[in-house]
Amino acid sequence: MNYISIQNIDSLEKWVKQALKIKKKPLKNKKLGKNKTLGMLFFNSSLRTRLSTQKAALNLGMNVMVMNFTTEGWTLEFEDGAVMNSGSSEHIKEAAAVVSQYCDIIAIRAFAGLIDKEKDNAEIVLSGFLKHATVPIVNMESATGHPLQSLADAITMAEHKTKHKPKVVLSWAPHPKALPQAVANSFVEMMQLQDAEFVITHPEGYELNSEITKDSKIEYDQNKAFENADFIYTKNWSNYNEYGKITNTDSNWTVTAEKMKLTNNAKFMHCLPVRRNVIVTDEVLDSENSIVIEQANNRTYAAQVVLQKILKSSPTPPKEGLFKSKSAK
Ligand code: CP
Repeated sequence: MNYISIQNIDSLEKWVKQALKIKKKPLKNKKLGKNKTLGMLFFNSSLRTRLSTQKAALNLGMNVMVMNFTTEGWTLEFEDGAVMNSGSSEHIKEAAAVVSQYCDIIAIRAFAGLIDKEKDNAEIVLSGFLKHATVPIVNMESATGHPLQSLADAITMAEHKTKHKPKVVLSWAPHPKALPQAVANSFVEMMQLQDAEFVITHPEGYELNSEITKDSKIEYDQNKAFENADFIYTKNWSNYNEYGKITNTDSNWTVTAEKMKLTNNAKFMHCLPVRRNVIVTDEVLDSENSIVIEQANNRTYAAQVVLQKILKSSPTPPKEGLFKSKSAK
């Protein structure tokens, strides 16, 4: 079993229930991961994903190895048949096979480059490990998705919702740097599995990949979208159509206390890290309605559900002899 996208969740309701159970007794399955190793490979920075996933693994009794691949590893080549006479030192074929010998689960963070849409959509790094590793793979945020985050978001909303079918708004907000669409994509996919009134609001031209948003409601008027909302989930993403570009920096999209007044006393959510007074004002972020810290706390239980399911479902293949048939010379 791999955890690559929200589509790997067979029942969101059951997974959320399981996570909430784990949250009550996080050390209950401390023996499940004994003598198993989680390898965490980072091609990009992280605070929450790194620590919460590590904590989840430790709660399950696993050993954890962490590598900042970009600064500490060899530069990888992903193309089949490449003549490696320039930048890259190691092919994904060897790298993934080698890491598979040391680890029982490999978790990978590799963001979108935001230059080549086709390349980002092909998920070169994640796909390379999926193809060439021999152990389960977990997506710790790839070019197009962040399913651990959105599972944590679902857990957080389940804890805080006061009605069966809440109104949930995903709102774009400005940001000085071009950011990937991954968090928003997975949030949309997760919301499509929920019974909720779901609305996406962003400036015209900032549409996400329509293959992901499908028939989700889009409202270009942020104030209108906020009316009677129960949850405001804010996130910046760079332009998907004019790929990776910042085409809008309008500070009118910043989430303010005035805008929150339009809602049904909505909870404020953000995956963090968040730029204060750019994405959201201090007043909103520091208010009682902000649940961003609990949302980050739930990253541990989201990761723990995923690791637990993998440990229970995937017998670890033998580590020796991965290249047996090719080892004559
Ligand atoms: N939300 C999230 O993924 O945080 P980090 O980038 O700090 O891991």
